[in-house]
Amino acid sequence: MTSAAPSQGAADADVPRGAPDAPGSVVEFFDTTLRDGEQSPGATLHLADKLLIARQLARLGVDVIEAGFPASSPGDFEAVQRIAREVSGPQVTGLARATHGDIDAVHAAVRDAARPLIHVFMSVSDLHITSKLGLDRQTVLERTGDAIAYARTLCEAVEFSPEDAGRADPDYLCEVVQIAVDNGASVINIPDTTGYCLPEEFGALIRTVRRQVRGMERTLVSVHCHDDLGLATANSLAGIAAGARRVEGCINGLGERAGNAAIEEVVMALRVRRPVLHLGDHLHTEELVPTSRLVEQLTGIVVAPNKPVVGRNAFAHASGVHQHGVLRDRRTYEIMSAADVGADGTQIVLTARSGRHALRHRLDRIGVQLSPESFQRCWERFLEVADSSKAVEDATLAEIALAVERDQAAAGPAPTPLPG
Ligand code: KIV
Ligand code: ZN
Repeated sequence: MTSAAPSQGAADADVPRGAPDAPGSVVEFFDTTLRDGEQSPGATLHLADKLLIARQLARLGVDVIEAGFPASSPGDFEAVQRIAREVSGPQVTGLARATHGDIDAVHAAVRDAARPLIHVFMSVSDLHITSKLGLDRQTVLERTGDAIAYARTLCEAVEFSPEDAGRADPDYLCEVVQIAVDNGASVINIPDTTGYCLPEEFGALIRTVRRQVRGMERTLVSVHCHDDLGLATANSLAGIAAGARRVEGCINGLGERAGNAAIEEVVMALRVRRPVLHLGDHLHTEELVPTSRLVEQLTGIVVAPNKPVVGRNAFAHASGVHQHGVLRDRRTYEIMSAADVGADGTQIVLTARSGRHALRHRLDRIGVQLSPESFQRCWERFLEVADSSKAVEDATLAEIALAVERDQAAAGPAPTPLPG
């Protein structure tokens, strides 16, 4: 990322090159909506749902689909296998613990994909090693080496994730990553499993791994950030600034607990701030909102209206000052266009905080033209209605305008001039 703006701390000339770093280099997106996203409480997806989402993810242009955790259930195995066989475009992977049984299950599920990948994870924080696994550091090192070497006998592309890296001893993390690289891992994915890191710390961790581990210049670095402190997108961007060239995330920020980095947020940060970051991607961002709606519908997890990029309010303006601005020039209050993300367009929402410009704009849109006197009456009546409702919809506005015109007609001459 040599040409990223130094003022943003994004350029990082002193770290070894772990991935294509030339200006114009690309950040890949690894979508785990169907695995980590499906682990969101209440988000369970069935085979047909998963196939629909996977096809839409391919249309969105993600680089990798993590389709599930094949060893977890026969149903998930089948879903991963069907996606591997039927969805073309992205690389397809499934998750495995560092055991031969799990790795065999992933291999069997993804082997028919055009480009299969086996994703192996192993805990590396002392808390996980002792409390969760009941193991010690040396055993984790040995099991990681064995698992990656075994996975490589089955598949050329193998990703290793040191789970809970964000809370691990960085030197030990590097030892485990070294073993994985030495045994043939082609992607090293650093997860902040519990969403614990601050962006600066996470960026520093990625730099440490890239500096200390031999062979990282031939290895793609990926990041996987959870959102427990609301920092998943910021941490993913810090990882990219430190040289990561793949981001794992979920549509709508789904995922365990508070979720994973939202793919729509990370990619739009790259797009909107491209003059600073100088990084490309392969996504067709106009598919972001359709993908978000499909995932919302099939998981039943409703997207907050104020959710960045894909929320229903992301391009809606309700206050008079803002409405006046966007009616003159959308860019006064919008840093991206609705069309770029597949949303309906700038929306002017009529509320009690709206101004006359917005009312006139909306009347125009529903084809109502009023004399100055009628407009004034309509404005007064609109404010009365708006004060007692959340938003004034087109049908209500048409009724207000009609009532005003009827009163005007009943009152006597001075008919409202009509067009034509
Ligand atoms: O959060 C995490 O650590 C994971 C790994 C399995 C990548 O989801
Ligand atoms: Zn995760």
